[in-house]
Amino acid sequence: MVVILLGPPGAGKGTQGRRIAALRGAPKISTGEIFRDLAAAGTPLGLEAKKYWSLGELVPDEMVVGLIAERLKDADCRNGFLLDGFPRTVAQADILSTLLGGLGCKLDGVLNFAVQDEALVSRLGGRQTCDNCGATYHVKAMPPRAEGVCDHCGHALVRRADDSPEAIRKRLREYEVKTAPLLTYYADRGVLHTVVSNGSPDEVYARVQDALGQMEAS
Ligand code: AP5
Repeated sequence: MVVILLGPPGAGKGTQGRRIAALRGAPKISTGEIFRDLAAAGTPLGLEAKKYWSLGELVPDEMVVGLIAERLKDADCRNGFLLDGFPRTVAQADILSTLLGGLGCKLDGVLNFAVQDEALVSRLGGRQTCDNCGATYHVKAMPPRAEGVCDHCGHALVRRADDSPEAIRKRLREYEVKTAPLLTYYADRGVLHTVVSNGSPDEVYARVQDALGQMEAS
């Protein structure tokens, strides 16, 4: 199964993607997580990319596609994968199509998480993440059992550098201008499945499962 998770910042791509990955036993490849890990490790690419993402800007295409091309060659991708946050521009989508062709893979579908901007701002404003294991929480909607501590690994939770009000505004603008055109791109190819991402994570997950079922039936 090759599935793209598409949607604005805070739509729930990561939250739902982790559930789908656990259910299907497929890796979830998040370009945002890869960039954050590379920056934390102090690599030149990670530090250069941070100059963009920490301000809420997209990282230039040429810095992203090489990473994805290498990651998709890994053995755990042989039976499918979920792409969380890639592609984000039409140029990236065209490159992905070439990469999939080279790997002999077919894109099964695109899950488009749709939610209003007001909800996005409150979701991102209340997000807490574990930079040790990547788990994500929300102070109100999905709080950890002990305040400020990851349920899974016990590390302290932090706020992402790009979850400041200014960076959130910039990310939403970047999405509208550069990423939203992918909705038409994939609708024209007959692979877009929109999931209304309002409601609790469990309610959204039920809709995700319906959409995956439709994808498999088509
Ligand atoms: P990335 O890490 O991909 O961030 P994003 O797309 O902005 O998405 P988020 O991770 O913020 O949100 P999400 O949709 O995963 O929501 P989540 O599940 O966490 O990218 C970061 C940056 O890296 C980009 O801005 C860019 O600079 C760069 N980058 C990455 N890929 C790139 C590419 N291909 N090209 C160029 N640049 C690239 O949920 C959010 C919050 O809401 C959480 O607190 C969660 O607990 C809560 N929540 C989730 N679902 C619900 C619900 N149903 N109800 C209430 N709360 C909920």
